[in-house]
Amino acid sequence: MMKNIVVLVSGGGTNLQALIDAQNSGIIKNGRITCVISSNPEAYALERAKNNSIDTAVIRRKDFAGFDDYDRALTDLLIEKNADLVVLAGFLTILGHIVISRFENKIINIHPALIPSFCGEGFYGLRVHKAALEKGVKLTGATAHFVNEECDGGPIILQKAVEIQNGDTPEVLQKRVMQQAEWKILPEAVSLFCQDKIKVIDNHAVIGE
Ligand code: GAR
Repeated sequence: MMKNIVVLVSGGGTNLQALIDAQNSGIIKNGRITCVISSNPEAYALERAKNNSIDTAVIRRKDFAGFDDYDRALTDLLIEKNADLVVLAGFLTILGHIVISRFENKIINIHPALIPSFCGEGFYGLRVHKAALEKGVKLTGATAHFVNEECDGGPIILQKAVEIQNGDTPEVLQKRVMQQAEWKILPEAVSLFCQDKIKVIDNHAVIGE
């Protein structure tokens, strides 16, 4: 059965665009993007969805009194949209235990570093690249992983390394990591999932035939 992919976004949505392009070129097998949900009504990612006739929704943390109310509402929305796979593509709101347990090993996040480096609370967007440059590492990259209750701690599906160059700024490095790693491994991980090629054994994602 073709899987329904629901993509969660907060910003520009270049990873969403990579997924849309991969879908159009046939890289994503056995799945299609059926809905894009944004934490931010102004996110340009919503335009990308609309330009491709993909259903959209907005859910804002601040519209709910307590975190659990938000967590339950997001879970209900994903169930209503018949999500088989949830992809966090630059989604900057933390997920709670209700949604994580309901979609165990069915939520894939893209992180712009080689986990376990430069990850966990507070490491998102440009901050990740700033930290890598401050440390002076020679290699960074991106990681596609399943989401569990530990921030950036779920089973790793795919990683790709990217070289740091002299004179890199966080912005320049972010762009290179996106182009060389994120926009490739995220669609690849999604396609593997949709074809049931990823098994989670003892918290490790094992990729098979
Ligand atoms: C991407 O670099 C993604 O890896 C990162 O935010 C950016 C979103 O860009 N996500 C995180 O830092 C999550 N911790 P996009 O909206 O253009 O896809």
